[in-house]
Amino acid sequence: MKLLLGFLVVLAAGHMVLADNFNVVCFYDTFSVLRGGSANFTQNDLETSLQLCTHLVYGYVGMRPGSYEVVTLDKRQLPIFQQVRELKKKYRNVKFLLSLGGNEDHSNPEKYYGLLNGDVGKHQAFAKSALDFVRQHQFDGLDLAYQLPTEEAIKKRSKFLSNLSKVSTAVTNKVKSNLGLSEDSKKPSAEKARTQMSSLIREVRNTFSSNKLMLTLTVLPNVNASGFYDVRSIIANLDLINLAPFDFRNPHNSRKVADYLSPLKAPPKHQLRNPNANVDSQIQYWLSQGANSKQMILGVPAYGRTWQIKKVLKNDRLPISSSLGGPAAGDEKTHKRGLIGWSEVCKNVKSMTKFEDKTFGNYAYRGMEVKGANGLLVTYENVDSVTEKAAYAQSRGLGGMALFDLSLDDFRGECNGDKFTLLKTIRYKLL
Ligand SMILES: *[C@@H]1O[C@H](CO)[C@@H](O)[C@H](O)[C@H]1NC(C)=O
Ligand SMILES: *[C@@H]1O[C@H](CO)[C@@H](O)[C@H](O)[C@H]1NC(C)=O
Ligand SMILES: *[C@@H]1O[C@H](CO)[C@@H](O)[C@H](O)[C@H]1NC(C)=O
Repeated sequence: MKLLLGFLVVLAAGHMVLADNFNVVCFYDTFSVLRGGSANFTQNDLETSLQLCTHLVYGYVGMRPGSYEVVTLDKRQLPIFQQVRELKKKYRNVKFLLSLGGNEDHSNPEKYYGLLNGDVGKHQAFAKSALDFVRQHQFDGLDLAYQLPTEEAIKKRSKFLSNLSKVSTAVTNKVKSNLGLSEDSKKPSAEKARTQMSSLIREVRNTFSSNKLMLTLTVLPNVNASGFYDVRSIIANLDLINLAPFDFRNPHNSRKVADYLSPLKAPPKHQLRNPNANVDSQIQYWLSQGANSKQMILGVPAYGRTWQIKKVLKNDRLPISSSLGGPAAGDEKTHKRGLIGWSEVCKNVKSMTKFEDKTFGNYAYRGMEVKGANGLLVTYENVDSVTEKAAYAQSRGLGGMALFDLSLDDFRGECNGDKFTLLKTIRYKLL
């Protein structure tokens, strides 16, 4: 490890920076190879980025309700997992991890509570199945991007079931059992959830460490750590903890109100702003609870969030505007409303009114061109704000940074001719 990381990085400006033991954790959306046209993230693109990563995290596999086995979300992922073997031979210093959940495992989201609430036998069955999957494809370990279902997903499900029970109890019970749902799938109290999560992590760790495999945790956006993690009891069982301190307000959970995407420090006080919704607060929380700074990996989003502007904005203190019109269109990389990759961000914001602040982050907007149409607000990270985060990560002695994800960075060099500008910013952590 030291050998790989101890090389000298020569910056364009001519500075020499000694890269120390700083991890660059690259999240990789395995569905990105299925995209057509300029959004197609090919094997070549992956290999270009791999030279800059210390860890490659394959997102995401899911879990089968009832049996809690680890399964692919789509059979087209298999050929991608089968490449791990070859890539490992070529990139010997990179660790390859398989990630579970990541808010991509949409069917029966309550099963994640079901596993938490389950007994040790269920935790062991899960750990064993994860181990089999990881070993089959020769991954170096597992990343638990444990998916804690949103209230919204649960409400939707219980509405569906209560509709059904109006028709027939027998059918409802059949559906429930097919979905692997039981009383077990209820959200546990915070105290219980923390104990259960510690036990689950301990079980997976025991299974994995006897096979010399890694175990990492990814804390997804908007997971309030205090509700699910007893930091002191899990840290010894985890190699790295990837935090995703961004997306506190996104166009789906907050259709009318936007805010900075990933502020490093708390922006000025505002009634609509949670003073803890920023990077520094989140990192400080983990450190104050006993996490080791070298375990902590600071995640940054390689994407922008987009809201429609459908009214004339009055008395708004952008970006915390309160009269937006929900998510704007996505792009051909994301195919998701309200989400555009960094290369689309940099092209879009050129013709918009921009406010860029390396500490709080960036946003750009354009008013309506026609009444009710074409108004757009984009919140995003750029090279300067990521550089600022890299300096922060280094000054706090963190273990490194993570990029969410490779396929949304500018892998074709569409912004300024240079490829993977955000990833390179992390890798070379300009000082
Ligand atoms: C993406 O590119 C690869 C390699 O050039 C090609 O084999 C594949 O068919 C492309 N996928 C799509 C969906 O266009
Ligand atoms: C439940 O039934 C109501 C009224 O019949 C309907 O509007 C709603 O869409 C149904 N919800 C689900 C989740 O099926
Ligand atoms: C997390 O929960 C704690 C305790 O309920 C609360 O004080 C804090 O503001 C929450 N953090 C975020 C970012 O929502």
